[in-house]
Amino acid sequence: MITIALPKGRIADDTLKIFKTIFGLDFAFEDRKLIMQEGDFKFLYVRNQDIPTYVMGGAADIGVVGLDVLEEHRPDVLTLLDLKIGKCRVCVGVHAGTRLNYGAPSLKIATKMPNITREYFASKAVAVNIIKLYGSIELAPLIGLADAIVDVVETGATMKQNGLQPAETIMQSSAHLIASKNSFVLKRDEILNLRDKLAHTIA
Ligand code: PRP
Repeated sequence: MITIALPKGRIADDTLKIFKTIFGLDFAFEDRKLIMQEGDFKFLYVRNQDIPTYVMGGAADIGVVGLDVLEEHRPDVLTLLDLKIGKCRVCVGVHAGTRLNYGAPSLKIATKMPNITREYFASKAVAVNIIKLYGSIELAPLIGLADAIVDVVETGATMKQNGLQPAETIMQSSAHLIASKNSFVLKRDEILNLRDKLAHTIA
């Protein structure tokens, strides 16, 4: 049995489709259920940012998580495969038609990714005041809480509909397969076998 943590939403659906293609089983979470067992797999349905916690603690043997989350939290896990789904980028967002004012003594940046934000602006030797939010980041510049944001952009619709635009791309992201180091020792063959099947299917 392998326990797999999946991030709620489209990445979970896309991952389960890949599993269906490989194993022919109908993998789907019922209604509000957060756990599903099918064949040799147990799936957990968790928040994207919580995936590393489940995998690091060994509650899940493997997990699927965005590269942006790995970059932000640097969890002590093994990264096994780029699944090439959930593609997005982490961008600096500013009011449409403007640019970041690098001349300002300090920039107020709202984000749910403080580490990525800090490192990015440090690499440019720009002083920033980071405002940590947990969601609806696009709201912050609109009501004057921040000068700009650092957030995930997939289609760009959320920024556009809120009068913002991506000004700079910090990194590209996609969903990656990660494994608990302990599980990798205990279930090495099972995990590698699954990794190979996934790699073959998405190729
Ligand atoms: C992300 C991000 C944006 C939106 C961007 O939030 O914070 O709000 O998606 O997507 P778009 O470019 O296609 O409009 P998401 O809903 O993934 O989740 P979270 O806030 O729960 O992390």
